[in-house]
Amino acid sequence: MRLFPFCDRPRLWGVAVSHYQVEGNDPCDWTDWEASGRTKGEPCGEAVESWARYEGDAALARQAGSNAFRFSVSWSRVEPRRGEFDLAALERYRRFVEELVRLGLEPAVTLFHYTHPRWFHAETPWTSPRSVDVFKRFASRVAEALAPHARLWTILNEPLVFILGGFLDGQIPPGISRGDEAGSALVNLLTAHREAAWAIRERQPSAAIGVAHNMMGFRPERAGWFLDRWISARARDLYNMGLIEAFTTGRWSFTLPPLTRFRGRVEGLENTLDVLGINYYSRLHLQCPGRERLLSDFRYRDVSGRGLTDNGWEIAPEELPSILSDAAQSGKPLVVTENGIADSQDKFRDAFLRDHFAAISSASIGRARVHGYFHWSLLDNYEWLDGFGPKFGLFSVDRMTMERHPRPSVETFRSLGEAFVSAEPAPA
Ligand code: BGC
Repeated sequence: MRLFPFCDRPRLWGVAVSHYQVEGNDPCDWTDWEASGRTKGEPCGEAVESWARYEGDAALARQAGSNAFRFSVSWSRVEPRRGEFDLAALERYRRFVEELVRLGLEPAVTLFHYTHPRWFHAETPWTSPRSVDVFKRFASRVAEALAPHARLWTILNEPLVFILGGFLDGQIPPGISRGDEAGSALVNLLTAHREAAWAIRERQPSAAIGVAHNMMGFRPERAGWFLDRWISARARDLYNMGLIEAFTTGRWSFTLPPLTRFRGRVEGLENTLDVLGINYYSRLHLQCPGRERLLSDFRYRDVSGRGLTDNGWEIAPEELPSILSDAAQSGKPLVVTENGIADSQDKFRDAFLRDHFAAISSASIGRARVHGYFHWSLLDNYEWLDGFGPKFGLFSVDRMTMERHPRPSVETFRSLGEAFVSAEPAPA
């Protein structure tokens, strides 16, 4: 099976970035969040100036052996005031997409990667159906500008992470902690996905529409302890499988123990996905009841002795085959839309890449068919609540001069990419 009916590339091998994390100078809801002191370290500011340097970044991706480039469109740049579109910003993205095509990089466009225009939460919040109309209008404008060249679309990046962080945990904008609001925001977000999918298909009938779904490994802290096993299974149902159920059936019903129940239906959602994107980074070990949290504690642990990443995450490639086989239950072609490691010294990245590549290859022998891989990230970038601390880049960035420097593991990325792209196409 090929991702696009007319695509000459059996497999995609690329890098991923997101607008706010690299472009710089993009006032939006997240900028206000930083100003209110809710993030660590320096505010995003100029980020790594990709808005002015995108063409150079694309050239780096090409040099590193990519044949695809995942990026996102900033809603706040494109529609800084409600209903007023910045044509120059749309044109800037169009030129970038043309450059990607010229370089032989398949553009993979994301429409929502966490941030919103400043007017959004006050005027058309996700808890209101008005959010669907404005998102659809934004998606249509972007599709008009980019669809002729862009065939692979990720409408939402990590919708569940956004709902959990923004509407239950209150850690990211809009900073709400209410189960009922989380439920209605999820309905509207998924409805917005459906509307955007239709709008894109109208303009690009052979588009492949996807979502980037964050999936994690969940393990009982004590394998012999029933409650630890129980909470790990519930975490997998909720976090990994809930959204897959929504996209395959149009309905969902999952419980956030002990009391929050997400239940909903979006008519037609099940016909809107051509590709399932998976963002995979790590796994958590769960203990129930928790000592720090009432129901359960969860933490990263260095089980294999590989060491923890700079931001304390476990390196767990062995979890990836079962994640991919869970994802394969959707019946959709799979693309790894993000996978990467915070490793400023590049101590672990080489092994990380090789081990995850081996995991993808072994999963592909079974039911899961992986048609693409995007490494997070091309560049060191702005890491949301952690500021510029964690370094995820294949290329480091000197933020004084904004120069980009390859880390040694770029070579590993390139050679694995050659093997991946030239392998036999994954059969349907
Ligand atoms: C997000 C990225 C983020 C990465 C590493 C992913 O879940 O989509 O924006 O940079 O995790 O923290």
